[in-house]
Amino acid sequence: MPVIPVEIAGAPYDVRIEPGLLHRAGAQCRPFLQKPAALIVTDGRVADCWREKVEASFAAEGIETRWHVLPPGESSKSWGELEKLVDWLLAQEVERKDAIIALGGGVIGDLTGFAASIVKRGCRFIQIPTTLLAQVDSSVGGKTAINTAAGKNLVGAFHQPSLVLIDPEGLDTLPPRELRAGYAEVIKYGLIDDPAFFEWCEANGGKVLRNDPAACEYAIATSVAAKARIVAEDEKETTGRRALLNLGHTFGHALEAETGFSDRLIHGEGVALGMVLAARYSVHRGLMNGQDAERIAAHVAASGLPASLRALDLQCDGARLVDHMLHDKKMDAGTLPFLLMRGIGQTFVARDVNLDDVSTFLDEQLKG
Ligand code: NAD
Ligand code: GLY
Repeated sequence: MPVIPVEIAGAPYDVRIEPGLLHRAGAQCRPFLQKPAALIVTDGRVADCWREKVEASFAAEGIETRWHVLPPGESSKSWGELEKLVDWLLAQEVERKDAIIALGGGVIGDLTGFAASIVKRGCRFIQIPTTLLAQVDSSVGGKTAINTAAGKNLVGAFHQPSLVLIDPEGLDTLPPRELRAGYAEVIKYGLIDDPAFFEWCEANGGKVLRNDPAACEYAIATSVAAKARIVAEDEKETTGRRALLNLGHTFGHALEAETGFSDRLIHGEGVALGMVLAARYSVHRGLMNGQDAERIAAHVAASGLPASLRALDLQCDGARLVDHMLHDKKMDAGTLPFLLMRGIGQTFVARDVNLDDVSTFLDEQLKG
């Protein structure tokens, strides 16, 4: 089984990737449990697809499972659901060394990880991600958060999991739109610093989107290895290295905010269009050639992801989108860093971006 170590000083852990792992979750988690009872947090849709199998795998190890099932969707990353989850964990008499298990997508992982970080001043937790987005990105690296009235992911903590179990077969039940959204984060790793992987995506992305097992496993392992390397270098996003993982997020976040964080544009779709805009803005700034930017846009579009701002049909102007960016958590010393590109695989942090210029650029993109 591919095992990717995440070498974070003081908190190292493994990411294990293997088809069928959901059926063996009990045996994998057993060394991380203090008693023969596992506390599992999931959402209703994931529970419908996977609860029985996961429960059986723990039962086979003589471990009882206790479940906290949340409503599916972004709205569960809330103060209200956090409070209910924390109360439930305390009622279960969770101990600090008990690993709480997050079974689900990024919503479940972010919420459970945050709860684990605050209950009894920090409990262990295990990520068992079931969306492609969570498998290639959110389950690794220890960013946990909820959303508040002030914005998305503004309240949270860095809290590393003790183990990440990735079963590519978990994607068999994932709706195609969610698979495509997760694929945007796969493309991201190629664009950050791995042009050969971007070429692999151009050649094999269709297989990933058809849920071909070998292609999915390769895409997941390559993405996790890239993320593990970056977070080990800069766990808390202090040196700028980890900030590279935000490629596409500043533009994407503004679009998600403008569409009300709704089904009109889900997170990975916002990231996909955000990466295209980052590439086109890099061309606008004379940093990158137009062919590279259009190559990125072509692959995003060929993957069934949004590649044109005009097609979103937003009723706003560039200034409003820039205003959304200013409420993003990525402000640094009063400035907004942007992830721009000098070419495919040459992403860097630009701290000299003029927001009026971004606004003008977005006005042009909104017109098409
Ligand atoms: P999600 O958790 O809402 O899952 C998407 C949908 O897929 C949900 O309806 C869920 O019920 C369903 N689902 C999950 N697994 C399934 C399966 N195997 N079969 C059938 N249905 C399944 O969304 P997501 O895209 O996984 O995560 C998005 C969240 O992740 C956002 O809140 C975002 O902020 C966060 N995120 C966090 C990080 C991080 O580093 N912590 C990184 C990227 C994104
Ligand atoms: N998804 C961005 C990060 O983990 O830093």
